[in-house]
Amino acid sequence: MSYKIAIDGPSSAGKSTIAKMLAKELGYIYIDTGAMYRAIGLYLIDNKVDIHDEKSVIGVLDNIDVTLDYDDKNNLHVYLNGKDISSRIRTQEVGEAASVCSQYLKVREKLVSLQKKLAEEKSCCMDGRDIASNVLPNANLKLYVIASDECRAKRRYIEEKEKGIDTTIEKVLEELKARDYRDMNREHNPLIKVSDAVEIDTTDRTADDVVDDIMSRFF
Ligand code: DC
Repeated sequence: MSYKIAIDGPSSAGKSTIAKMLAKELGYIYIDTGAMYRAIGLYLIDNKVDIHDEKSVIGVLDNIDVTLDYDDKNNLHVYLNGKDISSRIRTQEVGEAASVCSQYLKVREKLVSLQKKLAEEKSCCMDGRDIASNVLPNANLKLYVIASDECRAKRRYIEEKEKGIDTTIEKVLEELKARDYRDMNREHNPLIKVSDAVEIDTTDRTADDVVDDIMSRFF
């Protein structure tokens, strides 16, 4: 029987790091649903589609094919119309476009059906915003990952600096808060903590410590 872990939470709380490490530890596949919304965001940017115009976005949806694959080290790769775009989607601009277009019901329907299919047969660890509430409501384990605003901003700031992006902690925090607000207040499948989710606070903790804690509590 396959085992499903659903991981939700706001941006930069540590979801994907934890999900990836848990998947590796347990031998499950890792499914990064944010990367799928980012792939659509990247297509819209590349093709100069107005992300704020729902009709224009829906009009190009049939031209967009998002697939996931794993290399021999089991690292996840994201493909947009057959091209590996795994590193191109990790920018603030693409994250923002993903957050905006993920508000549209047709965009969500397209990706949610794909996500459900991916999770059908194999044991998996899936992270995103609506995983426990919508994609995998019957998941065996539901985790809601949080961290303080200060800690999330610091993590994002370090990531951006490493990429050579000139920014400030204040600017990063403002962007994070705007993104969370949109993701938590949209009409369709907003980010929520479901009643049977276990809250995991990663503030000032290493990823190893958090994963060891989850492993000892639930496996
Ligand atoms: O987790 P991330 O930063 O890669 O996600 C990018 C955006 O995609 C996020 O701001 C909202 C959207 N998203 C979503 O609506 N539902 C998901 N399950 C995952 C991401």
